[in-house]
Amino acid sequence: MSKIQMKTPLVEMDGDEMTRILWRMIKDELILPFVDLKTEYYDLGLEHRDETDDQVTMDSALATKKYGVAVKCATITPNADRMKEYNLKKLYKSPNGTIRAALDGTVFRAPILVKGIEPYVRTWKKPIVLARHAHGDVYKDSEMKINAENLPVKAELALTDAAGNETRQEIFTFKGDGILEGMYNTGASIRSFARSCFEYALDQKMDLWFSTKDTISKVYDGEFKAVFEQMYEQEYKEKFKAAGIEYFYTLIDDAVARVIRSEGGMLWALKNYDGDVMSDMMATAFGSLAMMTSVLVSPDGVYEYEAAHGTVQRHYYKYLRGEETSTNSVATIFAWSGALRKRGEMDNLPELMTFGDQLEQAAIETIESGKMTGDLALITTLENVTKLNSEDFIRAIRARLEQLRA
Ligand SMILES: NC(=O)c1ccc[n+]([C@@H]2O[C@H](COP(=O)([O-])OP(=O)(O)OC[C@H]3O[C@@H](n4cnc5c(N)ncnc54)[C@H](O)[C@@H]3O)[C@@H](O)[C@H]2O)c1
Repeated sequence: MSKIQMKTPLVEMDGDEMTRILWRMIKDELILPFVDLKTEYYDLGLEHRDETDDQVTMDSALATKKYGVAVKCATITPNADRMKEYNLKKLYKSPNGTIRAALDGTVFRAPILVKGIEPYVRTWKKPIVLARHAHGDVYKDSEMKINAENLPVKAELALTDAAGNETRQEIFTFKGDGILEGMYNTGASIRSFARSCFEYALDQKMDLWFSTKDTISKVYDGEFKAVFEQMYEQEYKEKFKAAGIEYFYTLIDDAVARVIRSEGGMLWALKNYDGDVMSDMMATAFGSLAMMTSVLVSPDGVYEYEAAHGTVQRHYYKYLRGEETSTNSVATIFAWSGALRKRGEMDNLPELMTFGDQLEQAAIETIESGKMTGDLALITTLENVTKLNSEDFIRAIRARLEQLRA
């Protein structure tokens, strides 16, 4: 069979450790035999980031803006140990943080559901996608400790504008020791977040839920609520109606209760801290971190696909020692399928879109037929499963994909 043709290149961001090994296998077994692949390749492996003083990360983000779709392998975010291990010139920032800031994007995390890997919540039948506003709040706060000296101590919010006018508001007067925190967000960032969420919900034809604690935080959380509401009323109400989906705001505590009782299928947008906590809970509740995909969407419709998990360091060291590994490649495969399908959609290439669907179907059916990697074999409800090593699992998916395309 002739290979599927592409028009515009995908931006390909290679990465680190075990996921870099899987990346090569996925391309060789599951992509290159079927697609006449066009990519613009950026090596985001830590060595190359160090060689280029991290310029390669910024270049890959700019290329993503230019072409509109990227697929990314997991990468190491260096810490002190990594600095020694890789003899780095300096402690580089997280590539995901750099790319997210350059694209002004929001991260959407979605679980991959397969029969045999059952969510802990019995009622969940469809994926729940989480959107986290990854900007500001407690992650960029200023904090102080108040010691029990020279009491009382008055804490105030103070604003000074360009003309030198001051506005002050009392926070609390301390009569003993205590703690204080100041945090912020920007209107531009909240609007970008809201727009990315509305666009993603439309793209996926999913209801959008948004929740904050605006009854308590009337100005701060109230502003988030107001921005979403206004954008919905002015720009998205009609589009949502036409797509048969809904926008729904509720308090975060009510949302948690409703999500647990629901059958899933919604996009749940959350402020930074709420999203941080809830996304890890969701990954576990759906069964496995290795079965979570992640897509960064910018408000102007640029997409970057990846797995939600990291570089699976422990397996990589086993691999380096020549031992057999059984690393789950499904989320990385779904990063490729998602990116190829989106490229196909943007370039009007139905064959490429179908290929994305078939690749996902092949991966799901392989697991459902009882062939899986060790992490899934430990938690599956299927009986008589075969645990495969990293290569054999990908080869099993290839065999299924060939049947689907025959
Ligand atoms: N998006 C990213 O690029 C990204 C995300 C998270 C962590 N990281 C990086 O990854 C490195 C390792 O971090 P970590 O150990 O905290 O996270 P990790 O996701 O690599 O591993 C966490 C745990 O889950 C297991 N696991 C994760 N994915 C798996 C898979 N596909 N198959 C089988 N088991 C899997 C691992 O064995 C480990 O026990 C770090 O250097 C970190 O900076 C990168």
